[in-house]
Amino acid sequence: MSVQTSPCTSESTGDAGDSVAARLLAWYDRAARVLSWRIAPGSDEVPDPYRIWLAEVMLQQTTVAAVAGYFGRFTEQWPTVADLAAADDADVMAAWAGLGYYARARNLIACARAVVADHGGRFPDSEAALRALPGIGDYTAASVAAIAFGRAAVVVDANIERVIARHRMIETPLPMAKREIRAALAPLVPADRPGDFAQALMDLGATICTPRNPACAICPLMDDCRARGRSDIERLPVKPPKKAKPHRYGLAHWIERDARIWLVRRPDKGMLGGMRALPGGDWTDARPTESGIAEVDHGFTHFDLTLKLVQRQSPPETPAAAAEGEWWPISDLDAAGLPTLYRKLVDKMMLERRT
Ligand code: ADE
Repeated sequence: MSVQTSPCTSESTGDAGDSVAARLLAWYDRAARVLSWRIAPGSDEVPDPYRIWLAEVMLQQTTVAAVAGYFGRFTEQWPTVADLAAADDADVMAAWAGLGYYARARNLIACARAVVADHGGRFPDSEAALRALPGIGDYTAASVAAIAFGRAAVVVDANIERVIARHRMIETPLPMAKREIRAALAPLVPADRPGDFAQALMDLGATICTPRNPACAICPLMDDCRARGRSDIERLPVKPPKKAKPHRYGLAHWIERDARIWLVRRPDKGMLGGMRALPGGDWTDARPTESGIAEVDHGFTHFDLTLKLVQRQSPPETPAAAAEGEWWPISDLDAAGLPTLYRKLVDKMMLERRT
């Protein structure tokens, strides 16, 4: 990744002298965040597509701060895509516990295995070939193509959407605005540093062009930002009206014997698929009447859940139940890799036990 300036094209110049890309990259050269998966601007290190891909998958729906620890643990345990491909599914799922959106972890394993089986252990370097891998959608294909392989892909995440919607004063509500945003962004992407350009926009959105109280006075794009100075800048991008989330209820079972509890693995398909969990019934619209020993509320993307913990004496005595469960030492629950929902419930139970 070299530190060249991008050419001033008539599309990208706007009315503010240097092109958007030139101003943004000059700012990025000074102010880029130091992130473990990132090659610093100006460095002659070669980006590792495996690390870039892993970070981009982890960063979907999550913040840089939430991902940092996970990224370090994953790359220490599985330094290459071949290591990850050879890992036990259960170990990867447990290492992912707490990051949420567990289908991503299942796809992560599938993708690593496809890279090894179909591409000789090297990520393909085009957006189209990346897009064909399991779990790689438009965003991840574009970001890996740009950041790892220097392809002039149009990368659009939520931060970039916000920056462009404001800079171009795009007032169409999301998700309809996505097309306009992409069309406005495409001609700005510089051929020489597309990866740094995408990351610069992400950093700008995360640190200056923030959802609330954007720091317009120090923004490298302020001169030609159409929304700058407007009291309603925070309105952009315009969000669709919020849908009311349904509420669901469920029971989880606390089955304890000799300082161990009975844990099961959830079915591969569906919510928290493949993750270890407390046993329990389906989640439904009906609030259970049984009284519990602890209760937590948890927000998923499409519904909120109240999960109540109830005591049971023993696991169901069917062969299927025996095959899908295990007695887990209560003193070592950290190592079980429980997703946040169950972790919260177990922590609450422990707290209530102590008081
Ligand atoms: N968010 C998603 N991808 C990112 C990246 N590569 N750098 C910073 N923030 C990001």
